[in-house]
Amino acid sequence: MSECRVTQIPGGPRIVRGADVILDDDGNEHRVERPVVAVCACGLTQRAPWCDATHKVSQVKKVAQA
Ligand code: FES
Repeated sequence: MSECRVTQIPGGPRIVRGADVILDDDGNEHRVERPVVAVCACGLTQRAPWCDATHKVSQVKKVAQA
């Protein structure tokens, strides 16, 4: 098993390095094929568990509403 490191990007995804598998909230396994992946932390992605950059749209809406 390799070392896994997770970094939370403020307002964005969790950057995961060195994982072999990601478990989603339902316990489903998603195999990781790359050394670094971005996992959605906002819950808005259409490609769960992966970040599809939808968090950027939600941030634009928050700024526009401020
Ligand atoms: S964190 Fe990027 S879509 Fe959720």
